[in-house]
Amino acid sequence: MTSARNASARRARAAPEDEAANGPPPPLLPYGRQTIDDADIAAVVAALKGDWLTQGPTVARFEEAIAARCGAPYCVAVSSGTAALHLASLVGGIEPGRGGVTSDITFVASANGIRYGGGTVALADVDPLTGLATAATIERAVDRLEARGVAPKVLVPVDFAGQVAELPSIAALAARRGLTVIEDAAHALGASYVHEGRTVRAGSCTHSDLAILSFHPVKHITTLEGGAILTRDEGAYRALLELRSHGITKDRARLHHDDGPWYYEQQRLGFHHRLSDVACALGLSQLDKLGAFLAARRWIAARYGRGLAQRGLLDHYRPLPQPHARSAFHLYVIHLVPRDREPLGSIASRRLRLYEHLRARGIAPQVHYIPIHRQPDFAPFIDVDERFPGAEAFYAGCLSLPVFPSMLESDVGRVLDALEEHAASDEARG
Ligand SMILES: Cc1ncc(COP(=O)(O)O)c(C=O)c1O
Repeated sequence: MTSARNASARRARAAPEDEAANGPPPPLLPYGRQTIDDADIAAVVAALKGDWLTQGPTVARFEEAIAARCGAPYCVAVSSGTAALHLASLVGGIEPGRGGVTSDITFVASANGIRYGGGTVALADVDPLTGLATAATIERAVDRLEARGVAPKVLVPVDFAGQVAELPSIAALAARRGLTVIEDAAHALGASYVHEGRTVRAGSCTHSDLAILSFHPVKHITTLEGGAILTRDEGAYRALLELRSHGITKDRARLHHDDGPWYYEQQRLGFHHRLSDVACALGLSQLDKLGAFLAARRWIAARYGRGLAQRGLLDHYRPLPQPHARSAFHLYVIHLVPRDREPLGSIASRRLRLYEHLRARGIAPQVHYIPIHRQPDFAPFIDVDERFPGAEAFYAGCLSLPVFPSMLESDVGRVLDALEEHAASDEARG
């Protein structure tokens, strides 16, 4: 974790003349980044020298390893988390005239999966403290779909930042309303929650029909681009395998004809959403380190939490509460604590000043997320009277601080120093 390897790779930020005057600037601290070591590079080189670059045996090995890590029997590796959402929505029954619900606070991909299948999206408001859609807000969005004459079909709860959504209550809602649950666990590989005294892993499909992961470089492990779908349902698994590759089957029992051993049939329109053997070789090597990556993320989160408390900064910045789940800390999100009756616009202005203050000190925070209902391309899915007070409150004051496995203790200290300095100037400003 204390390796300077990645630190040296980070980009410098000051102009050369500043550097001459003040010495080298500290490296830019992004909100997230990959950790690639020599074993990863060796695994990729070995795969490149092998017989299979694309659809070889490493894909199945990676799928088995991900399934075992998450505790679900079946896994299908695909070309991105977005492709995973697309195929999961199709298998979940999304088609024109059907609808799906996802959280208003997430990356647009969570909603786009529903749209790629021709479905209508309804957005669920979030708890302003956690940024998570709840069973209650999701049910209101289901009712909205029905009021618009659209048959609801899938729910896509999002494990925002690495917390797990309240999946048992959402599964109960789905059972009551006859819906399919697709857990968007893109942020939550390695997270868990406790249900009836038992620890349940994110992505295990204990309280969902399908779950998706992303292996984008800022996530817990990377295959460059990449994603996966998990399920307990063998029929869904077989359908996903075909949809990932053009809708082609070689299952002799299902062929209309059989012209010989070379013969295959496209029996429905599928896609080219495959992940390569080389990418899976990287994924397997990364997976060996997942435990260490998670420990590092949790250590950094604990260090931030302690530092904020020790420096008396919790009146200024509030970390996400961690009520019922063991977060995988894909993101470390803080909120600016609102002042008495402070309007959201004022909190948002203070957040902008904090963002700029951190940037000026070589720290690159990010805002997760702009509520989807604000995206122009989603306007047709929003009713004129629809309001998202939880998402608006969440968005106004949220900021994601750097968290990635190769961060040094001094990096965390640098962020805390900058937060402390800003809190003092913010207070003086009134
Ligand atoms: C919550 C969530 N779901 C899905 C995705 C899509 O993953 P990918 O970038 O691998 O397509 C992302 C990507 O950041 C995400 O944050």
